[in-house]
Formats: sequence, structure tokens, C-alpha cells
Amino acid sequence: MNAVITGVGAYVPEYRLTNEELSRMVDTNDEWIMTRVGIKERRILKGKNENGGDLGASDMAVLAIKDLVKKTGLNLDEVDLLVCTTVTPDAPVPSTAAIIGGKLEMHKALSFDVNGACSGFLYGLDLVSQYIKAGSKKKAILVSTEKMSSIVDYTDRTTCVLFGDAATAVLVEPTEENVGVLDSDLHTDGFGREWLKIPAGGSVMPASHETVDGHKHFIYQEGKQVFRYAVTYMADATVDVMKRNNLKAEDIAWLVPHQANLRIISATAERMELPAEKVMINIERYGNTTSATIPLCLYEWEKQLKKGDNLILAAFGAGFTWGAMYIKWGY
Ligand code: UT7
Repeated sequence: MNAVITGVGAYVPEYRLTNEELSRMVDTNDEWIMTRVGIKERRILKGKNENGGDLGASDMAVLAIKDLVKKTGLNLDEVDLLVCTTVTPDAPVPSTAAIIGGKLEMHKALSFDVNGACSGFLYGLDLVSQYIKAGSKKKAILVSTEKMSSIVDYTDRTTCVLFGDAATAVLVEPTEENVGVLDSDLHTDGFGREWLKIPAGGSVMPASHETVDGHKHFIYQEGKQVFRYAVTYMADATVDVMKRNNLKAEDIAWLVPHQANLRIISATAERMELPAEKVMINIERYGNTTSATIPLCLYEWEKQLKKGDNLILAAFGAGFTWGAMYIKWGY
């Protein structure tokens, strides 16, 4: 028994935050952002819910799942597993997966959140596929939803140019064919925990006037350190997965990389000896949407994918978390 992606849905907010607008907010410019990172614009979720609060990660996730339902004809009553990857939960408790399920009146699915930061989609897909392969779940939704704008400090030029908001939803089902998730090589090493983090809002630094005044609820990143490891670890994991599956560059239809920095993506493709036309890249239009980047690529390239295509997915993120997966496209 194998586990295969059988549909992809997505939602991106309408508002486009351009480099031009950012350059009026902080000391930055289009030239720096394009040459160092490769981003032109990012989507930002705006608007209020019916209680007067902000729209949140669950609201985008609901729209992504509705898109998935519309595209696949999925009956949500049949879904028995709902896993949500996010670093921007609606609130610490309850899980965003429970909130999404509640909003969609899903009464049956085992639902919980996974935090693998920018590797969250890979962690989630690996986990969901284990349930499916074991036969204990038959229809799983993996929803990846990130309202990064809620944790970005728009006075900090080193991070505010990087991130955007988006949500995706993929359907994962069992198959007896030789397609789907064929291999995964995922890692975590907390030695990198200080270089990319949100300092406050948890049990070691609960919210206080001081934490708010000190901007401690926002993302803090030492970009150079993270870059150094991202560029090698993501490529290493990718090459390892290729080697142990006897895959050469010519066997691979697509590299689907996490979209944090165009230079990291290019370095990975170079190590694989993969030509640029086989690499999915949309960082220019969305920025880094954390766990939603990889499935957002699958969503945008869906029409070009063919059954049997060999895909390598690769990511690196806070923790550090990183890894690569080998999947054979199923439709
Ligand atoms: O997705 C999760 C994992 N995260 C990543 O993979 C991100 C990894 N890191 C990176 O992609 C890069 O390190 C960044 C894009 C974040 C930064 O690029 P960099 O080439 O490493 O730049 P830097 O941090 O070394 O900064 C170079 C200069 C500095 O000025 P000085 O000290 O040389 O005078 C920065 O202050 O660029 C300055 N700088 C900016 N200038 C204009 C930093 N941010 C900006 C900005 N606009 N937005």
C-alpha cells in the first residue's frame, strides 16, 4: 500500500505587498531584495472576522480546503485525518486543525497541528503517508496555512521583506500503484534554535508589556547563519535521496524546493545538476510562506505534472528542520 497526493487546493490573499511599498516602510529597495532574495511581492491577509478579530490562519485554511473540495469532489464527511502545518496558529489552544475542522463541520477526522517550520509540509506529508500506508486512515487532508504577516515586524528590514501569507490543502489517499510518497529523508537538529525564532509568547517568556515593547513576539532571524546551513543541508538531503533511489538528474521531472531564497534554490539545483527549467520557482510572487511554499508550487504547476513524474521536494527551516522527499506524481 502506498500514499499518494490526489488533489491540491490553495488560497492566497488578494493584497500584494510590493517591494516599492516596503521601501516606503523601511530602508530597503527592490534591487537589494531581488538580488539577495528574489522576491517582488508577497500576499498579505487583511480583514476582520464576524467577532471583530483579525482573519487568521484557519480562515485561509478553510478557503484552501473548499478549493480542494471544489476541484476533487471530495466529501468532507469521509475525511478521517486532518493535519495542519503552521507556525502561526490562530491561538496556542485549541489546535488550528480543531478550529478548521469545527468551521467545516468535520466531526470524524482525527485532527492536530504539526510545527516543522519551513519543513512543515514535508514533515506533515511524511506523517500523513505513514497513517495511510499503515491502513489506519483512508482519506487525509494536509493543510498548510501561514499568516506570516501576523509575526513579522514591519520595522525590521532584515525579515519583513521575506515573508508572505498563503494556505494550501492536499488530499492524500491509499493506492496500490507504484506512485506517491516513495522515500523521505527528514532531519531535526536544535543546534540552530537560536538563529531563527520567536523569543516570546511561550512558557519561558510569557507575554508582558516588556515583551510587546521589545518586539519579542516577532520573528528574529540571523540570516547569514541560517543561509549558511540552509544552502548545504537542503542540497545534501536532496542528493542523498537521489543516490539511495538511484536517481540521476535526467530521471527527475521537477525539483520542488522551499522558497526562502532564490540563491538557496539555485544552489540545490546546481548540486543535483538539474537544469533551471526543471525547478519550480514562484518566490518572486509570494515570498516565503513557510510550510505552504512547496504545496503552493504543486498547485501552480499541477497542470504540467504527469502521472509517473519523479519529483524531489526539499526544505530547510527553523529548528533547524530540513530534508528531502521523493514522490512519484499520481495523476
Ligand atoms: O525559510 C526558513 C529558512 N530561512 C532562510 O533560509 C533564510 C536564509 N537567509 C537568507 O536568505 C539571507 O541571509 C537573507 C536574505 C535573510 C539576507 O541576505 P544576506 O546576503 O545574508 O544579507 P546580510 O544579512 O548579510 O546583510 C547584508 C547587508 C547588511 O548591511 P551591512 O551590515 O553589510 O551594512 C544588512 O544590514 O544588507 C543589509 N540588509 C538590507 N539592506 C537593504 C539587510 N536587510 C536588508 C534589506 N534591504 N531588506
